[in-house]
Amino acid sequence: MTDSKNNAGIGQQRSHYCGQVALPEVDSEVSLFGWVDRRRDHGGVIFIDLRDREGIVQVVFDPDAGEHFALADKVRSEYVLHVQGVVRARSADTINADMATGEIEVYARAVDILNQAETPPFQLDEFTDVGEDVRLKYRYLDLRRNDMQQKLRLRSQVSANIRRFLDANGFLDIETPILTRATPEGARDYLVPSRTHEGNFFALPQSPQLFKQLLMVSGFDRYYQIAKCFRDEDLRADRQPEFTQIDIETTFMSESEIMTMTEQLVTELFAEVLGVTFESFPTMPYAEAMRDYGSDKPDLRIPLKLVDVNDLMASVEFKVFNGPANDPDGRVAALKVPGGSAISRKDIDGYTKFVSIYGAKGLAWVKVNDRAAGLEGLQSPILKFMPDETVMALMDRLEAADGDIIFFGADKTTVVNEALGALRCKLGEDLNLYTCEWAPLWVVDFPMFEKNDKGQWTALHHPFTAPSCSPEALEKDPGSALSQAYDMVLNGTELGGGSIRIHRADMQSAVFRLLSISAEEAQEKFGFLLDALKYGAPPHGGLAFGLDRLVMLMSGASSIRDVIAFPKTQSAACVMTEAPGAVDNQQLRELNIKLRQIEAPPQSD
Ligand code: AMO
Ligand code: AMP
Repeated sequence: MTDSKNNAGIGQQRSHYCGQVALPEVDSEVSLFGWVDRRRDHGGVIFIDLRDREGIVQVVFDPDAGEHFALADKVRSEYVLHVQGVVRARSADTINADMATGEIEVYARAVDILNQAETPPFQLDEFTDVGEDVRLKYRYLDLRRNDMQQKLRLRSQVSANIRRFLDANGFLDIETPILTRATPEGARDYLVPSRTHEGNFFALPQSPQLFKQLLMVSGFDRYYQIAKCFRDEDLRADRQPEFTQIDIETTFMSESEIMTMTEQLVTELFAEVLGVTFESFPTMPYAEAMRDYGSDKPDLRIPLKLVDVNDLMASVEFKVFNGPANDPDGRVAALKVPGGSAISRKDIDGYTKFVSIYGAKGLAWVKVNDRAAGLEGLQSPILKFMPDETVMALMDRLEAADGDIIFFGADKTTVVNEALGALRCKLGEDLNLYTCEWAPLWVVDFPMFEKNDKGQWTALHHPFTAPSCSPEALEKDPGSALSQAYDMVLNGTELGGGSIRIHRADMQSAVFRLLSISAEEAQEKFGFLLDALKYGAPPHGGLAFGLDRLVMLMSGASSIRDVIAFPKTQSAACVMTEAPGAVDNQQLRELNIKLRQIEAPPQSD
């Protein structure tokens, strides 16, 4: 029992997880395996908090345990132990109400040290304030912390729950390739060089989009996959280069049928896993979302709205405002914050800096101290540039009341929307303006296309999204065409997005033409899809949820890195494995790759 070299203790099976030993086990023998969370020596009695994935139990050694007492004396934090003992009820004065196992303790008869541990580089509790880079370098230790264990368990529960729902609704789980061709979802591809096809590259899928459409052409009718996707894009708290989608595709279902079914999936998920009840989700057209919230993923927990004031500002002298007010691509909008007049000048400066991240050149404001006092009751750096009637009309439009602050954005519409949209969310957070805990909605009626910096049309979703009009109408006026796309938004995060797809070759070709993809290029890149559409492709559509984002919101995490076991850093690297890493020349030679500019890695041959 004391000989750890041949693991004598392991022959004995585990009788319980540490965190599951409870009052009904009093007086029974238990056999536990776990890590030393804490060891305390109380005048000749040793207490060990033994931890496994289910929780912590207190193990007591007294000198009666003989050689085992001596062993227990040697253990340190994070040693791995096998403990055998008898469960005892704790006396009333030693019950620990904060611990799930706080009513009992295990009176140890034997201990086997299965492994020792060096002192961890940081404390493994919720109070750890160590930097994320250290946590990620020692991720296997970070993941021992209760908080991380709970998050990954929740993730497992979420995917199991979703699988159950989809299985019960007749969806088939079908895998699609990871080594494939580019699937355009708007990001850069991760490329993998081919050894057998000199000079050619695979692309890792940005999503299984094209394969799932082909599965519908094959007649599988309902498909799902919990799929890894890869996108080389600028990272943020809710973006990873490698992430997971719950990818869904269906045949012969309408936009509203797909939305109803996937809404039911999310509603049941929240009810079963979190006990949260959702009403049916409101649906908001894209144009309304942009107008009122400056965002296509509005956080409806925050009651603030943007208000257009272009008409009022078109003839004021203030150039900063009249320029955008008279520009068809410009916007002047106001954001009223009730009670916000208490915001200090210093904080206003902070918000001005904040909106500058989004390209805003300033942040004009008006504080309403005493509305009844007219101009006298207002405080602002910009009112002097406006006629009195305009100021009064502005106050009426905004229904301004004493104690309000009104912020203004004036610029290109995209800049104003991004800046005031982000400011709205920041104010919501800073001033705790939330009116509810959960605010899901659908955003619909997206435009098919938007113009990029070069003035070319680009797909707002992906180029396989069906428009709501005919190919002729689409080519005639691409700017006004709407798509049959829908995004599910929760608390200002885009949880998922999907659409009805193009299932006819003529429509697909029309969209490629509008996107300036020539017939040759379309054939070269997507020939297989265009061919498939000619062989009886059924009407189909689907959606993909971001599993990481879903779990992030459900667990209250502030970053998706916290719900991914081994995430990448902001610069798309893994500090633990030090990936990406250099490869030796031999490997490069086999792949016919010669590096330039950077120093060649060391020779291995
Ligand atoms: P989309 O590009 O909108 O659609 O992606 C679907 C969902 O995936 C999540 N997501 C991400 N999560 C983490 N890190 C990222 N870098 C990242 N990028 C996207 C989001 C998003 O809503 N093929 C289509 C779906 C379809 O049309 O069926 C697609 O990929 O939650
Ligand atoms: P200025 O005349 O540049 O000192 O600006 C007067 C006020 O207008 C300041 O409060 C600026 O922050 C604000 N301001 C300047 N440019 C913009 C803009 N594009 N949108 C909103 N407010 C602005």
